Amino acid sequence: MNLIIVENDQELGQKTGDLILNKIKANKNIVLGLATGSSPITTYKYIIEKTNQENIDWSNVRTFNLDEYKGLEPTHEQSYRYFMNQNLFDHVNIDKNNTLVPSGSVKDNEKAKEYDKLIEKAGGIDLQLLGIGINGHIGFNEPGSSFDSLTSVVDLTDLTIEANSRFFENKNDVPTKAISMGLKSIMKAKEIVLIAFGKNKAEAIKHLVEGPVDVQWPCSVLLNHNNVTVIVDKEAASMLNS
Ligand code: F6R
Repeated sequence: MNLIIVENDQELGQKTGDLILNKIKANKNIVLGLATGSSPITTYKYIIEKTNQENIDWSNVRTFNLDEYKGLEPTHEQSYRYFMNQNLFDHVNIDKNNTLVPSGSVKDNEKAKEYDKLIEKAGGIDLQLLGIGINGHIGFNEPGSSFDSLTSVVDLTDLTIEANSRFFENKNDVPTKAISMGLKSIMKAKEIVLIAFGKNKAEAIKHLVEGPVDVQWPCSVLLNHNNVTVIVDKEAASMLNS
């Protein structure tokens, strides 16, 4: 695991943005796995800025998002499809048909798993960007999730609902279920970059970097992957041993 500690969220966005853009420059047909939430916002802002400055071509890039709230339409302002359009896709020359977000209207796990087949058909994810929950979730794979899980309908924990309520008018509006790529789906990515900033992520980052591998800390599954870069600010790194 390659650990990079930066000063703040701004530097996090630059480092992560450069890493992703360099991969796109090297492979115009890259398949990216993408995340939503607060963590990637500075990264996406930086990516948009640089893409425009350097005329970086996204026309052949394909993307798969990690997750979507169950029951939210793509047009809902808190849906992850809406977030991705607003924060990235509307500002680069990507073909929206090549941007996949799991469907919030999926009824059962048989249907949900078709997402993994689509990823496979695209040749697999070359570079997966991840955030991390306070409880160590990646995607919406909450503590206790099977390391063998594929894309499925999942229940959100109270902690996650509470954490995400900041984006909704009130806590009761936060969906209690989501559709998320599973831990096995995530582990199939050829390369993974996980980003985090802030003190409230420090405990999860400690479990991610120092282990042990434990289903109660889903992030720790990444210790079994051979190409992971973790980019965190000083606060998120503040509980690490050395
Ligand atoms: C989002 C996702 C989640 C978030 C995590 C951290 O697509 O899969 O795992 O990355 O909940 O969220 P933020 O970045 O808002 O702290």
